[in-house]
Amino acid sequence: MPTALELSKAASFLTEQDYGAYAAEQHAIWAELVSRRMPQIEQHAAREYLEGFESLCLSYNRLPELAAVSAILEPRTGWNATPVSGFMPAPAFFEMLAARRFPTTTWLRSRDSLEYTPEPDIFHDVFGHVPMHAHPVFADFLAHYGQICSGIDNEAILERIGRVFWYTVEFGLIRQDGRIKVYGSGLISSDGECSNVLQKGCEVRPFVLNEVLRTPVKVDEMHHLLFAIDSFDQVFEAMHTLEARIRNGSRLDD
Ligand SMILES: [Fe+2]
Repeated sequence: MPTALELSKAASFLTEQDYGAYAAEQHAIWAELVSRRMPQIEQHAAREYLEGFESLCLSYNRLPELAAVSAILEPRTGWNATPVSGFMPAPAFFEMLAARRFPTTTWLRSRDSLEYTPEPDIFHDVFGHVPMHAHPVFADFLAHYGQICSGIDNEAILERIGRVFWYTVEFGLIRQDGRIKVYGSGLISSDGECSNVLQKGCEVRPFVLNEVLRTPVKVDEMHHLLFAIDSFDQVFEAMHTLEARIRNGSRLDD
């Protein structure tokens, strides 16, 4: 596994989190974001997310210190929440995932945009994504996704495989105890997206790899269709299926 020093494509995007530079107002915004999301999350998030959140000792009141989060996470699954300067091109992003380094932004939204930011911030990245990285099967799936995509330079194929990322990592659902639970970061970190699912504004179908591959991503509207897995083994196996299809040069979606 490459260390930070061995990352080549992502190296110029790595940064430091200047934790002491956060103002009291920013810690207060974090606290408000967490307290707004928690009632829905406690009821409707997947148990793996909730266990991950607890295991990372994330504070309700103060912004997370990424080094401290990683110090807990790394011994569990090898993942690290690595500070980056912002949006990264795909090859650099995949390189980091393959190295189990989650590109994590350090800026926080302002009070005017508590519900939505066009680009991910530390709330989306840490509150939304990082707790799932404590789950061993999800952790392996995400690193494998990065490894597979790192080896592909065909844009059309990457767009197809990106649909799997979108409908799992970002907007994934899971059926647990006879109910639909959320684990995708876009649902965890957004009241509007999560409520859309819970209030049945969105059709939920079982996760079938070929159907996911055939469902384009629409970033500018609420979802009308999302997919629920039965267990994280399913997404782990989906990546192995995709890898075999790529290796054999067969169609991705059959
Ligand atoms: Fe995300």
